[in-house]
Amino acid sequence: MTKILAFAGSTRKGSFNQAIINVAAEGAREAGAEVTVIDLADFQMPLFNEDEEAEFGMPEKAQAFKELLMSHDGFLIASPEYNSSYPALLKNAIDWASRMSEGEKPLQAYRGKVAGIMAASAGGLGGMRVLVVLRMLLENLGTMVLPNQKAIAKVNTLMEEGVITDEKTIKQLKNLGKETAELAGKIAK
Ligand SMILES: Cc1cc2nc3c(=O)[nH]c(=O)nc-3n(C[C@H](O)[C@H](O)[C@H](O)COP(=O)(O)O)c2cc1C
Repeated sequence: MTKILAFAGSTRKGSFNQAIINVAAEGAREAGAEVTVIDLADFQMPLFNEDEEAEFGMPEKAQAFKELLMSHDGFLIASPEYNSSYPALLKNAIDWASRMSEGEKPLQAYRGKVAGIMAASAGGLGGMRVLVVLRMLLENLGTMVLPNQKAIAKVNTLMEEGVITDEKTIKQLKNLGKETAELAGKIAK
């Protein structure tokens, strides 16, 4: 069965991006994938520093996050847009997981994988600028990013009590989840 890992680049309580990732994850599930939704708050890792890595090795939570990426065929990632780019939280986790431990292949967490990317913001652009740089980052790591992507603008008007309730938005996000699961099932190694 195709395995999809879903996570948001925010650990904020009431995160809009956590809300949209839950919907996309449901779409992947409905398409028949086994979906694991994680919260990066459960994978706290220090800011990457090469000297500390050399001295102490990879922190346990960073290794655990990397192993999750390695054991899934595809990813659903919802990222906040911070000053037109991805938050340090997300980049730091991605950087840690790009480091090779003994017995692993280079960029094993990323190569040959598929990703569906999305963003949500209360602003009018929905975080569409972060998707440009997130796509580039993932593709440089060897992950194929789906042409379809979603930036959900004014997301605060499309939800109630932390849950997306707008039917059109639900349909779009579920469809992105479904497409990610289907492509991951076809091409991921
Ligand atoms: C440092 C910082 C920079 C931000 N820059 C942007 C931005 O460029 N575009 C945007 O739409 N929202 C921006 N925001 C607002 C975020 O979209 C907002 O905090 C959003 O709720 C974060 O996602 P989350 O709800 O998943 O935590 C910024 C927020 C912070 C803290």
